[in-house]
Amino acid sequence: MVKKAVIPAAGLGTRFLPATKVQPKEMLPIIDTPTIQYVVQEAVDAGIEDILVITGKGKRAIEDHFDRNFELENHLEDKGSEAAYAEIRRLADMANIHFIRQKEMNGLGDAIAQARWHTGSDPFVVLLGDTVMKSVIPVTRQLIDIYEQYQCSILGVETVPKEKVSRYGILGGNKISEHIMEVTELIEKPDPKEAPSNFAVAARYILTPEIYKAIAETPRGKNNEIQITDALKILMQREKIIAYKFEGKRYDIGNKLDYLKTTIEFAMERKEFSKPLMKFIKTLSGKRSKS
Ligand code: G1P
Repeated sequence: MVKKAVIPAAGLGTRFLPATKVQPKEMLPIIDTPTIQYVVQEAVDAGIEDILVITGKGKRAIEDHFDRNFELENHLEDKGSEAAYAEIRRLADMANIHFIRQKEMNGLGDAIAQARWHTGSDPFVVLLGDTVMKSVIPVTRQLIDIYEQYQCSILGVETVPKEKVSRYGILGGNKISEHIMEVTELIEKPDPKEAPSNFAVAARYILTPEIYKAIAETPRGKNNEIQITDALKILMQREKIIAYKFEGKRYDIGNKLDYLKTTIEFAMERKEFSKPLMKFIKTLSGKRSKS
């Protein structure tokens, strides 16, 4: 059974400066909800009871966000703001959330290695803290279901345009069924000419505990960092790894254009914003096409 989740949230967020100089990128809100709250919610909706967030310097706001805030609670209670009070209280009780710091910025593989003592001999889900998924069945739940069938590491994947393969971990393998593949090749951020396919690792993984030994043996790779993709390549020599093309849409808030698009898309789905926002966008695009 997969009952634990690890959320790496230690990255510097350099693609989003200056907003992320002192603010964790995972706290950037999509309208009124920090990105990492969506990620935690996905894990909870998938049946996860225990979450470890890997943080680093300057990430205290994440811890505070999932903690009690008595002053704010009292204030909302006094004002009779029942809905806001309930939401703030709910946040502190979403799951058993723990925090550990990655002390040096040594890459995603090294960040995940910090979870070793916490997950022990259990398999665990990894959800990247800067990526939100929208789906009918939580993507994490879909991966857990595949894990239950195969009992090995599972990589959540999606297809990306060929010109974007250099932004992702890319894999190659043998097709088992429409959505499932056994992984035989893995390469982090390849040149499009070297990419074995356009299947990209997309922010959700289930890892077996053997990954820790593989990470320990992984030399520094792309950007002089310890890459989880390279560790998976080592693991692949020892255990089967399955890639699963999940049903859902991925929103990467770590890059500015995608963040803007995500905000608009999410706002259009909210009753209070959809009409006035649409009207505003139409007016704006009308003005731009005239000028
Ligand atoms: C990380 C991983 C990469 C993966 C990507 C999206 O890259 O290293 O393999 O494809 O996340 O999940 P990053 O976006 O941190 O550069």
